[in-house]
Amino acid sequence: MGGSLRADSLNRRLLRHLSRLLEGRGHGVIQVEGDALRIPLYDADLPVPDQAKSLLDSLAWAQGLVLVSPEYNAGIPPHLKNAVDWVSTLKPSPWPNLPVLLCSASPGAFGGSRAMISWRASLANLGAIPLPVSVSIPHADKNLGEDGTPSDPRSQASLQSALDAFLDLAMKLGTHSHSYSE
Ligand SMILES: Cc1cc2nc3c(=O)[nH]c(=O)nc-3n(C[C@H](O)[C@H](O)[C@H](O)COP(=O)(O)O)c2cc1C
Repeated sequence: MGGSLRADSLNRRLLRHLSRLLEGRGHGVIQVEGDALRIPLYDADLPVPDQAKSLLDSLAWAQGLVLVSPEYNAGIPPHLKNAVDWVSTLKPSPWPNLPVLLCSASPGAFGGSRAMISWRASLANLGAIPLPVSVSIPHADKNLGEDGTPSDPRSQASLQSALDAFLDLAMKLGTHSHSYSE
């Protein structure tokens, strides 16, 4: 899940690259991006939007979440926080013990890594398990190909080893490991 809403999102490129890598390793992937994240701002007086219900179903099916988040003003972009907030109001909660690999891409030198501080706090509050390792791609306007492959071999290697750690934790936790809290 992730990317920004704009057509040329660097983070969406990275997300698609990660999806291909996971599929290449034989895993099923549901990509949640673009219009699926164009959800009305959370309002308890609104009926639950279809995208929020669909995201809940996807997370309930998943053994893990790869979250590819841009960084806005050193924090979480509103469309992604809004999506997570909507799902946090729904039952059964898909979050407890769900492993989450945090990834980001930015034209800046930090690669969007500062947003992960806030993500870790929110995800931990939900009972999810953000992995200690994460992936951030600095100078992503130059360092990401059109298909989202990093051109820098170090970034490519860090991506593969983060996926290894993510898959290892998801396997250890096992199928349907994230218990649902009613
Ligand atoms: C409101 C806003 C705030 C931003 N703040 C940051 C920031 O704190 N750190 C950073 O590295 N980039 C920041 N950027 C630049 C984004 O990293 C850059 O626009 C990036 O391309 C966004 O991700 P995307 O390509 O997936 O849309 C900001 C962009 C916007 C629109």
